[in-house]
This record gives sequence, C-alpha cells and structure tokens, in this order.
Amino acid sequence: MGIPRRLFLLVGFTPTVRAAIHNLFVGNLYTPASIHALEFNDETEELKLVRTQPTDSSHAWIAFDHAKKNIYAASLNEARIASYRVANPTTLELTKSIPATGACLNKTSAFIEGMSSEPYYAFSASWPAPDACGMAFSVDSNGGLASVVDSWAYANESGVHGLALTRRNGKQLIYSADTSADLVWIHQVVRSNGSVSEVGRFPMPYGGMNPRHLIVHPGGKYLYAVMEADNSITQFDLDVETGLIMQDSLRVMLIPIGTQADTTLYWSADVQLSLSGRYLWATARGRNATETGFISVYLLGDDGRILRRMLRVPTTGGGGTNHISPAFWSDEYAAMTDFGQGYVQIFKLDGPRDSRDGTEYTTARPVAKVDIADGGCCANAIWYS
Ligand SMILES: *[C@@H]1O[C@H](CO)[C@@H](O)[C@H](O)[C@H]1NC(C)=O
Ligand SMILES: *[C@@H]1O[C@H](CO)[C@@H](O)[C@H](O)[C@H]1NC(C)=O
Ligand SMILES: *[C@@H]1O[C@H](CO)[C@@H](O)[C@H](O)[C@H]1NC(C)=O
Ligand SMILES: *[C@@H]1O[C@H](CO)[C@@H](O)[C@H](O)[C@H]1NC(C)=O
Repeated sequence: MGIPRRLFLLVGFTPTVRAAIHNLFVGNLYTPASIHALEFNDETEELKLVRTQPTDSSHAWIAFDHAKKNIYAASLNEARIASYRVANPTTLELTKSIPATGACLNKTSAFIEGMSSEPYYAFSASWPAPDACGMAFSVDSNGGLASVVDSWAYANESGVHGLALTRRNGKQLIYSADTSADLVWIHQVVRSNGSVSEVGRFPMPYGGMNPRHLIVHPGGKYLYAVMEADNSITQFDLDVETGLIMQDSLRVMLIPIGTQADTTLYWSADVQLSLSGRYLWATARGRNATETGFISVYLLGDDGRILRRMLRVPTTGGGGTNHISPAFWSDEYAAMTDFGQGYVQIFKLDGPRDSRDGTEYTTARPVAKVDIADGGCCANAIWYS
C-alpha cells in the first residue's frame, strides 16, 4: 500500500528536525528579574532548567532578532527596553538598555518584535492603558538594539498588548492588538528611516472582546486575534494587496461553555502558528487559582482559513496558561508557560490521523514540566534550537 498522496505532501511540508536536545529561553514576568535557559530532549522527553541569569529588568515578552544572535526584551516593571547577545544556548549578555522615550516617555511595555527582513527594525508597544504608544528601534550591525528612531501614540483609552509584523508588496506593516480600546490598528513603516504612521484601525465586532495577541498567516489572507475577555479567536480577512482588514469572518470559542457569564472565569492569552502554518495554538487562562486553563488547537486550510477545532485540553494546574510557543523544529511540540504557579510545560500533539485536509490530531498531552516557582516566572518561552 502506498502512502496517501496527501500525507506524503504533508510530510514534505512539515519536516521534524530531531536533534535530541533543544534549547529554550524563558523570561520572568515580574521580579526577580531573570531569564532562564532550559533544555528539552525530544527522545527522552525530559525538560530541565540549566541556568538562571539576572536581567536588566523583568521581561513580560522576549523575542529573537532575525538571526537569533540577540534577544529583545520588553518590561512591565521598568520603562525601558533591553537587548541581550546570545553568547551560547544558555548564556546571555546585556548589550543595551534603552529608556522609553518620545510618545512612550516613562511607559512600560508588554511586547516587542523584530522584523525578519532588512532593515530589521524592532517595535514595542506600551501596556497598560491609558495613552498607549509604540516605539521603533534601529538595530546595529550585530543585530542588537541601537536606538529609538520613532514613536507614536494610539488613543487615550488604548493599551496595546500584542503586535504582529508582516510585509506586503514591499511594505512593512504592524498590526497592534489594542486590548483596552477594542481595536486592531494597522501602521506602516518607512523602510529608509523607521518612521511609523497609521494606515487604518478596525473596531472589534463586539464591544469588550479585548484583543490581546494576534498573528498573520504566512499566506497573507488571514489575521487571527485572541480576545482576552471574550475567550475567543476572531479570524479577520485581509486585503492581500494592502494588508488592510476587510472584515471579521469567524469567531471560535476557547472555553467549553455557552453562557456569557462563564466567560468571566477565564481570560484568554495567546495565539500562535505551528511550523507548517497548518495548526493554530491558543490559550485561555483561569482567572483564579482553582479554574484550569485550556489549550486549543485548530486545523487551518491551505490558505489559512480556520477549518475546525481539532482539540481543546485543560491545563494540568489552576490559573496560569500564559503563553504558548510552538516549536520551530516540529509541528507537534509547543512550550506552555504559566505565571502564578510558575512552570514551563511541553505539550505534544497526539493521535494523528490522515483526513482530507491533511494530518489531524485528536489531543495534545503534557510530556514534560519544570517548576520555576521563584514568584516571577514565567512570561513567554522562545525556542533557540
Ligand atoms: C517621567 O518620569 C520622570 C522621572 O520620574 C518625571 O520627572 C517626569 O515628570 C515623568 N514624565 C512624564 C511625562 O510622565
Ligand atoms: C484624549 O487626550 C487628548 C489630549 O490630551 C484630549 O484633548 C482629549 O480630551 C482626550 N479624550 C478623551 C476622550 O479623554
Ligand atoms: C522618514 O522618511 C519619510 C519618507 O521619506 C519622510 O516623510 C519622513 O519625514 C521621515 N521621517 C523622519 C523622522 O525623518
Ligand atoms: C474561583 O472561581 C470559582 C468559580 O467561580 C469559584 O467557585 C471559586 O470560589 C473561585 N476561587 C477563588 C480562590 O476565588
């Protein structure tokens, strides 16, 4: 019996790079200000904490530069942005600590992300509300942060918790999830000097949904935003030429309920794409220590359309379920971080079966966990190798 054509194609699209040891970095959301280096062995499925390093500030969000030579780091405790050189898979060196300035003077931030192509600017946005702002940073020849090249204001009631970057017809666009003002903003970047200006803003379909994080499908047709208060993902259709939002086209729930009242027990946190772009991971947190959170994974069509939910599993502890980081070396693994109890846990998709839409999975199971109960852990995890 031959391999079904569909499965064969999918295998081609989703290489699993088995390396045994994979390295991650995980930041602390609050003090003590540190970043932890972890190792995950994909053969024994063991996860261990290798090293904890003090940092410039506690970091609500960390992200690699395009070449993984540096980490960019936002902070809710201090009004500054840091960058660290990755000396080796477990060691970081602070190279820059830049005070928030311009429209962001004295403002803290919950998110930072760097461009994946020239000229490699990085962008941050401020949290919490009011009077949110953003900053654009130039980078030096080693990829570390250099200086603030522009800053911009959102609206008075704004608090921006997540950004997504995309390129469209040579134009660099920034989508901002304005949790407090219930808007997704679209800004454009002038590539020659990093200057940023608004090109549009799109109100959420219902008031009080509170978009928190968002991500653009590589095909450029869809943007997905996780709604913190509504505990859902909304799929938005993008104009493929301009990147502007045309309409919202689907809303899927991240918690297993039908009544509006129950949504107040949860607040949804993160949405991320798997390596192949076929699986969309999302998290919902319990608002108190007794409600477990949920991890949901959706199957996407070739063009990025959400086809259906493959699974929704409760987390193993109450509260938590902060962020989810799909591995870049396999479609099946993701690292989940918990703030509250303080741990990092690896989930693996399981129960694969071939369907007309490619490989589907029936569940995700926790395979490894490390407790880091220092009171500040954990913000987000990023896979280094
Ligand atoms: C920024 O912080 C400095 C130092 O605390 C303070 O003197 C200044 O008034 C603040 N400016 C604004 C606009 O908040
Ligand atoms: C927003 O801020 C501007 C400038 O400070 C002010 O003029 C305006 O009244 C504010 N609007 C609201 C709704 O607070
Ligand atoms: C950046 O370049 C654009 C386009 O040339 C120009 O309009 C803008 O004024 C420049 N901004 C800065 C801060 O130099
Ligand atoms: C958490 O929420 C549940 C459901 O509303 C409630 O029964 C429980 O008392 C809450 N626990 C705490 C510690 O607030």
